[in-house]
Amino acid sequence: MSSHKDTAKQKCINPCCGSEFDCGQSLFKCPDCGDLLDIIYDWDRIEVPSSLSDFAKRWATKSNPLDFSGVWRFRDMVDFCDDKYKVTIGEGQTILQQNDDLAGVLGVNPGCLHLQYEGLNPSGSFKDNGMAAAFSHAKMVGVKSSACASTGNTAASMALYAHSCGMKCTVFIGEGRIAFGKLSQSMDYGGHTIQIRGDFDDCMKQVQSVCLQLGIYLVNSLNPFRLEGQKTIMLRIIEQFGWQVPDWIIAPGGNLGNSSAFGKMFSELKELGLIAKIPRLAVINATGASTLTDLFNGKGLRWNGGNVDEAIINDYYADLTAKNFSPHTCASAIEISRPVNMKKCLRALDICNGVVLAVTDEEILDAKAQIGKYGLGCEPASAATIAGLKHLLANGTIAADERVACVLTGYLLKDPDVTVNYHKNKQGAFSNPPVQVDNDLEQIIELIKE
Ligand code: F0G
Repeated sequence: MSSHKDTAKQKCINPCCGSEFDCGQSLFKCPDCGDLLDIIYDWDRIEVPSSLSDFAKRWATKSNPLDFSGVWRFRDMVDFCDDKYKVTIGEGQTILQQNDDLAGVLGVNPGCLHLQYEGLNPSGSFKDNGMAAAFSHAKMVGVKSSACASTGNTAASMALYAHSCGMKCTVFIGEGRIAFGKLSQSMDYGGHTIQIRGDFDDCMKQVQSVCLQLGIYLVNSLNPFRLEGQKTIMLRIIEQFGWQVPDWIIAPGGNLGNSSAFGKMFSELKELGLIAKIPRLAVINATGASTLTDLFNGKGLRWNGGNVDEAIINDYYADLTAKNFSPHTCASAIEISRPVNMKKCLRALDICNGVVLAVTDEEILDAKAQIGKYGLGCEPASAATIAGLKHLLANGTIAADERVACVLTGYLLKDPDVTVNYHKNKQGAFSNPPVQVDNDLEQIIELIKE
């Protein structure tokens, strides 16, 4: 008996290829043409609820870990393996916070700005949604060892899931390129951490060769099963909006896995008649790592029914190589100049009538401090969403009365250095440095009283 369900397949996204493979194989690129793979479902053979609100019934049985998981609660939309393989460590208990204080500061109407705190996941980032799905697939295909390249969060999440499944894991990181909170996690969770003298893009290239040569399971977002887990973030946003879609989703753009997954989710929900309208998507780069922005806004690169003009991408990358360019931003999570999911992201932008822009490090840091002051805090990459929203409000792309959900991808304490430096060194308008005083009661009281 096969270990996988035949209701799902892997399919090459390139319309000139379109090769299909069963889910029992571990692939991260189409073996026929090298393009990205999707997971596609035979919806006629899956019992999808007739209305999204039917998913709410699973709250009543949340003592079943699969019903408690914010990914597997929606398992009918992610139906590629039997329950016995499904891995969960309680991911996806994340909240959508209506934040009227921050809305007020930004000039958004009350009730319209919402923050989706994916930093509340077990490893502190949205990656856990994807790892729950990827490690379920890894278990299903019977692998014993996993690996990833990472700017830190993928590594932390992989290490946590690998140890919960008794698998080995190897992390490739660029030396000096990851935030301390994240590095501390992968070491503590027992990950075999390899620091390469290079950046994320170098690590991404090496890890693919290592995985192919040694038969190791790759858990980067090239792995199509990862994205199946991450697409459930959209279901949870819809759930918390009372089973309605917002007008806009704003997400930071790094390797472009999230944006790709979100677009796929909305396309599937629309196809199934479970939503009437697809929200618009804004993907926000940092100006120091702005490949998507340069190609989408600057060069007019589009999905074009799957016939993406690869010459534009290749020329751009050749230019980066010629300049010996390495991306730089304080938002180290999105310090990526060759995003592997570029094509899928272009598809998502097509599905969601999306927009793209890049924000400066100063804008990211100010937005981060504002999210901290008015909300629950986040890491720098996540704050790119609010920095981007400011631009989109100012140029009239988003109106004050539109309902916006910003995906805050990682927890505040992932990158304590950036936060402490911003406040202590008074780097921005929202810096809140500690005040120094002698060990003297009178002086202390003087400082505190009105
Ligand atoms: N936000 C955070 C906190 C991240 O860690 C990442 C990616 C992104 C945004 C970008 O998401 O790749 O889906 O566009 N972090 C990866 C890592 C690259 O290795 O942890 P994306």
